[in-house]
Amino acid sequence: MSDKPHPVFARIYERLSPGWEKDGQAELRARTLARLSGRVVEVGAGNGLNFGHYPAAVTEVVAVEPEPYLRERAAERAAEAPVPVSVVAGDADALPLADGEADAVVTSLVLCSVPDQASALAEARRVLKPGGELRFYEHVVSHKRGKAAFQRAFTKTVWKRVSGGCHMDRDTGRAIADAGFEITELDRVPFHGLAHILGVAHVADGYAPGMETSEQGHGDTEESGSPESNPQGPGDQRGGEESDTSGAPDTSSPNESDSGQATGNPGAAG
Ligand SMILES: C[S@@+](CC[C@H](N)C(=O)[O-])C[C@H]1O[C@@H](n2cnc3c(N)ncnc32)[C@H](O)[C@@H]1O
Repeated sequence: MSDKPHPVFARIYERLSPGWEKDGQAELRARTLARLSGRVVEVGAGNGLNFGHYPAAVTEVVAVEPEPYLRERAAERAAEAPVPVSVVAGDADALPLADGEADAVVTSLVLCSVPDQASALAEARRVLKPGGELRFYEHVVSHKRGKAAFQRAFTKTVWKRVSGGCHMDRDTGRAIADAGFEITELDRVPFHGLAHILGVAHVADGYAPGMETSEQGHGDTEESGSPESNPQGPGDQRGGEESDTSGAPDTSSPNESDSGQATGNPGAAG
């Protein structure tokens, strides 16, 4: 059964999310999806706010969404999308594609909510073609110890219950690397006071299931502090406490320059 109803959360999300788009989230979505082409699977598409941002070179989007109310809203937005989008019921753990059928998998604001990130990311890897890419835009746990502690406590006690299973305290960049992806482009941007990561990952060379290790790719944690946000990127205009964090560059961003700026920006060349 792929339906996961969260009727209250879904209605609140549909009501509030268009306002967040105007606050700058639309631009972050566009950056996340820039330069995509071919067949794309969007995991947990919600109410379809990404659809308007897919480039014309995308030939098909299979948008998987388990929440029935959000799925209906997504189907409405799919009808207006600039590229063909089919909205289907489904789950991150069981995507409706055969092995290696997708040019890209997109997760936006969804790896915070899936019950098991490793399982969802393994499924993303399964459906990707060799050389295919994962595009992600996700909020992540703070680099600031105090704030991270608050996020852990708040997630456990209140937030998860009222937010459709969302976790504020996940280190999603590490989860992506641990799942056998190499993160090739990464930006860290604040939005509404929460740290977000957006970027591109590819299945790591030589990766085979079972090789997962927390050492892989990401050699750093939030605690070291790391301003990865691109000074030219929209995140910096959005303020938020995360932007003034200082410290060593995060090795979770393999292409970062010495300035701490990610060299890759999925939208910059789009
Ligand atoms: C915060 S909303 C984000 C929606 C959309 N991706 C966006 O960018 O606006 C989180 C979404 O994750 C979906 N979700 C939660 N658990 C899921 C799962 N196991 N598989 C697929 N989607 C899931 C929810 O139904 C919801 O649509």
